[in-house]
Amino acid sequence: MRVLVSGGVGFIGSHTVVALIEAGHEPVIVDNLSNSDESVVGRIGEITGHVPEFHKADVRDVESMTELAGAGIDACIHFAALKAVGESVADPMKYYDNNVGGTIALLSALESAGVTRLVFSSSATVYGDPEKLPLTESMPIGVATNPYGWTKIMMEQVLRDLHVANEEWSIPILRYFNPVGAHPSGMIGEDPQGIPNNLMPYVAKVAAGELDHVRVFGADYPTPDGTGVRDYIHVVDLAVGHIRALDVHSDDPGVHVYNLGTGRGHSVLELIKAYEEASGRKIPYEIVERRPGDVAASFADVQKAYSDLGWSTEFGLADMCAHSWKWVSGAPR
Ligand code: NAD
Ligand code: UD1
Repeated sequence: MRVLVSGGVGFIGSHTVVALIEAGHEPVIVDNLSNSDESVVGRIGEITGHVPEFHKADVRDVESMTELAGAGIDACIHFAALKAVGESVADPMKYYDNNVGGTIALLSALESAGVTRLVFSSSATVYGDPEKLPLTESMPIGVATNPYGWTKIMMEQVLRDLHVANEEWSIPILRYFNPVGAHPSGMIGEDPQGIPNNLMPYVAKVAAGELDHVRVFGADYPTPDGTGVRDYIHVVDLAVGHIRALDVHSDDPGVHVYNLGTGRGHSVLELIKAYEEASGRKIPYEIVERRPGDVAASFADVQKAYSDLGWSTEFGLADMCAHSWKWVSGAPR
């Protein structure tokens, strides 16, 4: 299939473009480069032997999107969004405009070009504070604690309403748990601007000597070692999940929701220890206050993705840390 990949230069998008090429699909990337660098396109070419088609454009530009979608596109994987939780609190309009507005513009362009297959990047954040673990897809959507989370909840609703109005749409909604790691080649990975908000990129910068120590947000949670527990998933496993969802549901109209995680939780201290082992570096840390809005633990029930998509994860926490370190300590940037 010829697949339009919005946000395909970004962290998860670039790994998915690699997986699409490896699966024999033809990705067409559209990205405005607001949080990524064009050099990634060339590096995808080095990994796969094929430099993907790339268009620098904004998904809110309906005219450009309609033109792109009309050029033989069979399906779209929609990653393009802003994702910094703190920034979304400070500037909510930017998030509603880019994420919700961008999705609506892209959907209308796709529909007018007759493209009715869309894989959507959602997040476990839509579950809010979990009442029960593991989280299953049938659990109710919760209350978001920030505008970024609300944009995901709103976009999921937009997609459900779109399918009610036009039953031709096939829409796998993929709820990611905590994507981390990098391509095993060390050629592409996550490259957050400034001081990272998320745990693994922060730990990586401490290992690399760019930051002094990790601040562990709370050690008094009702978890085995008192620190927050999350379901970290290797970005390559996550990427492959998109290909499975696309292939399995390509001629299967409906809204199909899947959790993509490993089904296993790891604590903050476990992750720090695993990263120390992968990097061979000491990672100093300090226990500080809980971060507002954090939940104690979150991990997925992944049975539905396993049985419907034949998908399960290949990489564990040690691989996630080793590949992240290869990327962070390596030369490509
Ligand atoms: P990223 O910032 O690395 O990638 C997003 C890409 O989209 C960037 O290359 C950016 O330049 C582009 N983009 C943003 N707005 C755009 C617009 N209006 N038009 C065109 N391009 C635009 O982020 P990522 O981690 O790869 O996340 C991809 C998707 O997955 C996002 O929708 C994000 O909300 C979702 N998600 C990410 C995580 C995570 O932890 N990384 C977790 C859950 C969900
Ligand atoms: C966060 C966002 C979530 C978003 C996801 C992916 C919040 C409240 N949630 O999820 O909306 O979808 O990122 O972008 O921001 N931790 C530390 N020290 C740090 C950083 C994190 O101890 O410097 C802890 C956190 O308290 C948590 C765990 O590490 O227990 C993972 O944090 P993080 O990587 O930020 O992911 P989430 O909080 O799960």
